[in-house]
Amino acid sequence: MFGFLNRKRKSLIGLDIGSNVVKCLRLDVSGERPILTHFGMADLPPEAIVDGEIMDRELVIEAIKEAADKAEIPNEPVASAVAGRAVIVKKIVMDKMSEEDAREAIYWEAEQHVPFDIDDITLDFQILQPDIGADQMELLLVAAKKDMILGHAELIRDAGFNPLVIDVASFANQNAWEYLAAHGKGKAVPAEETDEAPVDREEDPDPFSGGEDEAPEAPGPSGEFVALLDVGGGVTNVHIIKDGVPYFTRDLPLGTAHFIEEFQKQLGLTYETAQRVARGDVEEVDVQLVSDIVRSVGMEIYQGLEPSLSYLKTSGEATGIDRIVLSGGGSHLPGLLGFLAEQYGVPSEVSDPLAALDYKPELFAEGEAAELSPLLTVCVGLALREGV
Ligand SMILES: Nc1ncnc2c1ncn2[C@@H]1O[C@H](COP(=O)(O)OP(=O)(O)OP(=O)(O)O)[C@@H](O)[C@H]1O
Ligand SMILES: [Mg+2]
Repeated sequence: MFGFLNRKRKSLIGLDIGSNVVKCLRLDVSGERPILTHFGMADLPPEAIVDGEIMDRELVIEAIKEAADKAEIPNEPVASAVAGRAVIVKKIVMDKMSEEDAREAIYWEAEQHVPFDIDDITLDFQILQPDIGADQMELLLVAAKKDMILGHAELIRDAGFNPLVIDVASFANQNAWEYLAAHGKGKAVPAEETDEAPVDREEDPDPFSGGEDEAPEAPGPSGEFVALLDVGGGVTNVHIIKDGVPYFTRDLPLGTAHFIEEFQKQLGLTYETAQRVARGDVEEVDVQLVSDIVRSVGMEIYQGLEPSLSYLKTSGEATGIDRIVLSGGGSHLPGLLGFLAEQYGVPSEVSDPLAALDYKPELFAEGEAAELSPLLTVCVGLALREGV
């Protein structure tokens, strides 16, 4: 959502440090269609990242190095993301003023909206509606704890990389979705010409810089409320957008780990078998029982989403969501997509970012690309941050 960088690059590495799986990939964006040139991932033990917080730096650094080694990725600048409670995204209303003035005033405004000391946070914003009447405008405020951003950048440096962009995971997910929606699945679309002069920038990560540079290409206004649901290992990030504007970002403390735990408990499965079930392999189990468990944990996701949706409805902003896009490892949970589609009565799909890219088949084992594609959504959204 924020165009963090001004200069067009020919390639960028996306590094998604998930709580279960670290993914890294490199996209060559010099041609008409992005090319995935390198890809690697590595598992993280559950104790390394808990509730979005890094508990064991060494384990995380090791996993980044392992993923990078597998990818044989060159040492080029990296776009990565933070998530969790240290990031706050909120719509606010303030007096009408120029963007430049707002950049100063936002610090005063933020004090009322952010439960952290203002000296400890980095802020960015986007003007959503420049005039909502009564001399007021509406902004999207994004605040992140400075020490978290710096710590994340330091971690990447310690793993041997140069962190160029520190984004917010849910915005990277949105970026991937918008790219896919704009470019269609598997269709080659000419890259748009730009006559924008290159602008020098510092090589230090400046996560919330600018805002004046171009927004990512969004599809034409569809007026659809799209719920991007990233069901990761430990959390489900709900990011509701309409025409390129985020309305809600929320983390629900439910991920594949919770489904796996229930499979183990209720079906008496080993962890390994329960993992396989979570990935869609139901050969060894009673499909009906699995489906019942998925529905009951899925119901918790549905109910967790309710407050956000009620707010959208009562504020008159939406009558409901119009589409569900599932990403992350939880996309493979048997019956989850169908359950959500049924609950909301809307079209639902699994995110498939690889469909918009070219890549050598050797990068993936047989059948692996389709299996991994939804897990790579955030990572692709990161690597697409610039140049396309
Ligand atoms: N092909 C796969 N490879 C690895 N994990 C998979 C696969 N398919 C499903 N999974 C499940 O998805 C989980 C990882 O999902 P994902 O990569 O979205 O999580 P994460 O990004 O690490 O977590 P979070 O976003 O919560 O920090 C694994 O723990 C596993 O249960
Ligand atoms: Mg994730």
